[in-house]
Amino acid sequence: MKNDPFLKFNSLFEIPRDLIYLDGNSLGPLPKSAAEAISNVIHNEWGKLLIKGWNQSGWMNEPESLGNEIAGLIGAKQNCISVGDTLSLKVYQALASALQLAPKSGAVLSDEGNFPSDIYVANSLLKQKKLPPVRLVKSDSLESEIKKGDVSILMLTQVDYRTGYVHDMTRLTNLAKKEGIITIWDLAHSIGSLCLNVDQDKIDFAVGCTYKYLCAGPGSPAFIYVKPNHIPLIEPEISGWLGHKFPFKFDLSFVSAPDIRKLRIGTPPVIQMAALKAALAIWEKVDMKSFRQQAQKITQLFIEEIENFELDLELVSPRNPDHRNSQVSFRTKNAYEKMQALIELQVIGDYREPDIMRFGFNPLFNNEGHAIEAAKRLSSIIKDSLWKNKKYTKRNLVT
Ligand SMILES: Cc1ncc(COP(=O)(O)O)c(C=O)c1O
Repeated sequence: MKNDPFLKFNSLFEIPRDLIYLDGNSLGPLPKSAAEAISNVIHNEWGKLLIKGWNQSGWMNEPESLGNEIAGLIGAKQNCISVGDTLSLKVYQALASALQLAPKSGAVLSDEGNFPSDIYVANSLLKQKKLPPVRLVKSDSLESEIKKGDVSILMLTQVDYRTGYVHDMTRLTNLAKKEGIITIWDLAHSIGSLCLNVDQDKIDFAVGCTYKYLCAGPGSPAFIYVKPNHIPLIEPEISGWLGHKFPFKFDLSFVSAPDIRKLRIGTPPVIQMAALKAALAIWEKVDMKSFRQQAQKITQLFIEEIENFELDLELVSPRNPDHRNSQVSFRTKNAYEKMQALIELQVIGDYREPDIMRFGFNPLFNNEGHAIEAAKRLSSIIKDSLWKNKKYTKRNLVT
């Protein structure tokens, strides 16, 4: 499309020619440079250097060097992000660290829009510590709950994974600070989509993943951010050997590294980190302010196009683009079947229980033409009842 400031990025991604991919908020597509980077690590580093790769290719320093690259995307200072493990584990580490800093008596507050894994992980940690489970409230009650005076940790995911609703992170963090509450933000759906500034917002802990908007590939490592002045004050809850001050002394007693490396656990995923490094090199060239504006423009157009067709689709994403992430979700009966039929028509979105069709837009590879065409195909699926074919009822393992 003309006037698309992100057109030059389109060719950097490997997406089948006739496919409209609207699921980059769940799994980003393959950057061509990531395929090359992975091949290089496999053939030239692992293949030729073998174990020497840890030193000669700098593999061992990557959890922090990649963390320093991620810092630019979330507005963090250098040397306060560690990359590794899965996001669920990083949520565990963040909460365990927050519990060390927070007053013992208060509640851990979250909302019903949080991602289930965050709640499961938090509750298993709280149970081990014989503390009450997370207090889960509706998102519009968060402010009054924060002001009650009995909360010690606020643990939220900035973007509701179902609706794409964006919490006002600055405002909620500010309110929490006034009450002496420690904040943990899960930025899984924010990084590579929203303009973030964790340092300026005085956020205590942030975590996120790299396989969604960042496009580092399935199973790519997560990250944890710790506010710089907290780093010396926390001790790792899971003290793996690579979080040790001197891992290669193989001491039987654990002494944590003096810096953010203390939150490492075990061996870094070198091949996946190569993909992350390549993906981050693309993000380095992206102006997040204009990315956000473009994403708002495309999602707005998609909503208008869908609504012009007058289908039985109820918008559950916020209408106000400032409260909506680069995602549009609709509630409808037989949402699963409709999404399966749409996928067969070469438009990939996803389904979320119980009745949500979800579409993510990333301007690096999605444009306004995709929004118009996807709406047209969805309309034909519903108007021509294509989704009623029995084959679409078969549930896949991943929806
Ligand atoms: C907000 C949020 N938190 C946590 C997770 C879990 O991440 P992981 O599977 O990497 O542990 C996800 C996964 O999609 C997520 O969206």
